[in-house]
Amino acid sequence: MAGTEAIGHGDAEAHDAPRRDFLKILTLSTGAVAIGAVAWPFIDALNPTREGEAAARPIINVGGIAENTAIRVDWLGQPIYIRKLTTKQIADNQFVVPESLPDPADFSARVKPGYDSFVVVVGLNTGIACELEGNNPSDPRGPFDGWLCPCDGSVYDPLGRVRSGPAHKNLAIPRFTFLNDTQLQLG
Ligand code: FES
Repeated sequence: MAGTEAIGHGDAEAHDAPRRDFLKILTLSTGAVAIGAVAWPFIDALNPTREGEAAARPIINVGGIAENTAIRVDWLGQPIYIRKLTTKQIADNQFVVPESLPDPADFSARVKPGYDSFVVVVGLNTGIACELEGNNPSDPRGPFDGWLCPCDGSVYDPLGRVRSGPAHKNLAIPRFTFLNDTQLQLG
């Protein structure tokens, strides 16, 4: 008789197995969905918003910048100067011997290929980190017609290369790309 009972109990086990498996899968997937539903808002909050991406990588219209002037753009807490050079400023600075400069850099290192008339720099004096003067033609610009810190006497040319004064480094160039002749994107 012992053997017969054992077989009966085994059949019932085998019979219930698919149902047990189904219930297990159902429970697990329901749990997964529930966890997902709870976690998603947090995960989604990590996604950069459209506004956040636009602020991080703004597109700037440079088509309206008059020659010999620069616009100022606030970007990630820094003043970005975008300057349109005159033909004379290009000619005066194109063949400066880099080794003659405190921080050697030739013309092509300061402009993007194909966009020779635009200079994009962080407008902060590399000495005392003040905001420089020189965006407007009427501003004090120093002997190289660039940018100037009238307080510590640091002088930069229109390409943002330091020429004299206590500062030793050229103005920093932010990451940027020209999208076309009238637009550039920072970042
Ligand atoms: S400290 Fe540079 S402009 Fe005054």
